[in-house]
Amino acid sequence: MLINLWYVAEWSKTVKDKPVKAKVLGQNLVLFRDLEGNVKCTADVCLHRGGSLSNGWVNKKRDCVVCPYHGWEYNGEGKCTKIPSEGDDFKVPPRFKVDAYPVEERYGMIWVFMGDLDEKDRYPIPPLPEYDDPNFRGLETEFTWQAEASRVVENGIDIAHASFVHPVFGYPDTAEDNYIESIEKHEEWAVSHNVMYPPQLKGGFLGWRKLIRKDKQPTVVHPGWYLNGMTVKIQIDLRKDWKIVMFDANTPVDEHTTRTFAWQFRSFMKSPLFDKGSLKRLSTILHEDAQIVEASQPYYLPETLANEVSVKSDKFMSTFRMARRRCIEELGWQIDLDKRDSYNGKKVLTIPSPGRKEALAEGRGWVFETMPLVAPVKTPTEKKDFEKQVDELTVDQLNSKDNVIG
Ligand code: FES
Ligand SMILES: [Fe+2]
Repeated sequence: MLINLWYVAEWSKTVKDKPVKAKVLGQNLVLFRDLEGNVKCTADVCLHRGGSLSNGWVNKKRDCVVCPYHGWEYNGEGKCTKIPSEGDDFKVPPRFKVDAYPVEERYGMIWVFMGDLDEKDRYPIPPLPEYDDPNFRGLETEFTWQAEASRVVENGIDIAHASFVHPVFGYPDTAEDNYIESIEKHEEWAVSHNVMYPPQLKGGFLGWRKLIRKDKQPTVVHPGWYLNGMTVKIQIDLRKDWKIVMFDANTPVDEHTTRTFAWQFRSFMKSPLFDKGSLKRLSTILHEDAQIVEASQPYYLPETLANEVSVKSDKFMSTFRMARRRCIEELGWQIDLDKRDSYNGKKVLTIPSPGRKEALAEGRGWVFETMPLVAPVKTPTEKKDFEKQVDELTVDQLNSKDNVIG
């Protein structure tokens, strides 16, 4: 699990006038909405005796969450502003602060920045222009996997599995006909363009859906990934101006649970009458994927190719693995789970926040210890070198010993 990325903590509509508990990267968080309607997010633990702030309430002024144990109040910056037992004149020491994380509401989702990077250094939240586009009909849904988020992302961008796992999207005997046309790779996101030959569509009243797609009609599919949100975005061009866009933010609730916050958009048959069928098909696909992903081994996505092999159709997945490895080996963003677990139940460890960084820089100290991270082992690659295209890579290079593509 990687820090210093934006993740979706909850749907916007869930956070109203009460504090809401969320969990991201194995850390409990509290979300609350202030008087201006802005969502705030802090660690869900009180500095005093460890009360859970999300079990408390929002104060009358609606600018603080109140701990249910002894009534201490915390504002959206994580600063303790009131300690009732000490009276109104008590000056709360500046050190009485919990980690507070930057929040952005986009696409009806609450995105939380789980890290301490300065604003200018954060990767942007993935774009979703379809959300505000009247030419699209959008449906939201969610799904929980008993699997680690990187495995979920890799499955989402893997075109070759469609011929085997999703009968609606491929035939096993035409697996070799599908091909990657091109790949566009950036530091924190990539997209690929693929041609596939899926079966004729089924279903609908009197089987009308078969008119949408003929059997083995060439269909262009554009899967993409973004490190932020562990997001997978897939566009399917059924025919001219008939598009389906799937946007899945795959939140690592913890290392065993991934909660997918999903939007599905379509640019055709926009009447709500078709929503039910759409959601049902999406749910079937997610269940088909979960059956495979939850049973895959090793449990975590391998970080090198030492004990597995890749072929040409894995090229696009490799771009995700490369970016992830860069975050681990060069940037040091990976949570050290073994070390974390050695403190299990004994210490509160929190993901570093911008406020903590500022306090430490000013020599003010911080109450909670930081979540242990895996130390980087390499100096960061230049952005331009990292963004080299992968189109030309051969199978041998994919499997090369130095794990260029691990
Ligand atoms: S534990 Fe929160 S106020 Fe005491
Ligand atoms: Fe799938």
